[in-house]
Amino acid sequence: MSNVELSVKIGSLELKNPVLLASGTVGYGNEIAQYTDLSKLGGIVTKSLSLKPRKGNPPQRIVETPSGMLNAIGLANVGVEVFVKEKIPFLKELNTTLICNIAASSIEEYVECTKILDGEDAIQAFEINVSCPNVKEGGLEFGNDVNAVGRITEKVRAVTKKTLIIKLSPNVSRISDFAKVVKEEGGDAVSAINTLVGTSFNIFTRKPKIKNITGGLSGPAIKPVALAKVLEISRNVDIPIIGIGGIMNWKDAAEFIIAGAAAVQLGTINFINPNAGVEIVEGLKTFCEQTSVNKISELTASYQL
Ligand SMILES: Cc1cc2nc3c(=O)[nH]c(=O)nc-3n(C[C@H](O)[C@H](O)[C@H](O)COP(=O)(O)O)c2cc1C
Repeated sequence: MSNVELSVKIGSLELKNPVLLASGTVGYGNEIAQYTDLSKLGGIVTKSLSLKPRKGNPPQRIVETPSGMLNAIGLANVGVEVFVKEKIPFLKELNTTLICNIAASSIEEYVECTKILDGEDAIQAFEINVSCPNVKEGGLEFGNDVNAVGRITEKVRAVTKKTLIIKLSPNVSRISDFAKVVKEEGGDAVSAINTLVGTSFNIFTRKPKIKNITGGLSGPAIKPVALAKVLEISRNVDIPIIGIGGIMNWKDAAEFIIAGAAAVQLGTINFINPNAGVEIVEGLKTFCEQTSVNKISELTASYQL
């Protein structure tokens, strides 16, 4: 029998373990649920929701790249109302922590979405996406502006007592300045990172492989960048960090935790192995047992520089 304590705290939110599934890679949970046991995970983060439904960008929206992928989905989603009516009943039954990700094109829209969802008991936390590189309005325009991120945090904080996580963009020069403003304005945690802006051409047609021209790069290709961002935040700001970027196995997850993450999210790997989350929880447990770590939270920011 293992005595390792895998539970972690993110603000007031207690997760049964530090492994979450990342927004946009598991829809609203229903598609992945048949391939894995979501109740064994720390939680899931649902696809970014906007006030009204969005169709997203025209195809081609996804392309494979060396050690990664580019996507420009453009925040296609059902909108908050349909989410509440049609998606929450299923998510409620999953016995895992539900974190709702919200994206918007104005501060008012972020606030309105949060207000509507705040009434749902099934939702334990919000992750605010200020960092989507694939939409013209909102997205990176907010994610690149420290003052805008501060204002969004402040205004959303005012309408919810639930755990508030702000998902940061890596497409900035000092990510820790953004984490600092999130903390000052009452955010409970930051997620780092969202995708990096990238592109790819077909050399014969000379056209971009993605209709949107640029997309968000994810997968193992971004892991060292993501780790450096997590470490930078950890060294400069006292705020819980959720590490994201290219995690493929438990070793990658452990690396993020050591670099400063209290929890991690898995994105691209879900398309390759939808059971990866459960396997990573098991791997982390064994790693802790074998290295005499009693509580996984002791590993957070345990780097020796
Ligand atoms: C197809 C796809 C769709 C995504 N959609 C969203 C989204 O709606 N909202 C969001 O905050 N992040 C979104 N992301 C970003 C992921 O949540 C994650 O931050 C990123 O992919 C890096 O993690 P990974 O390397 O493990 O995939 C998306 C990523 C992919 C690959």
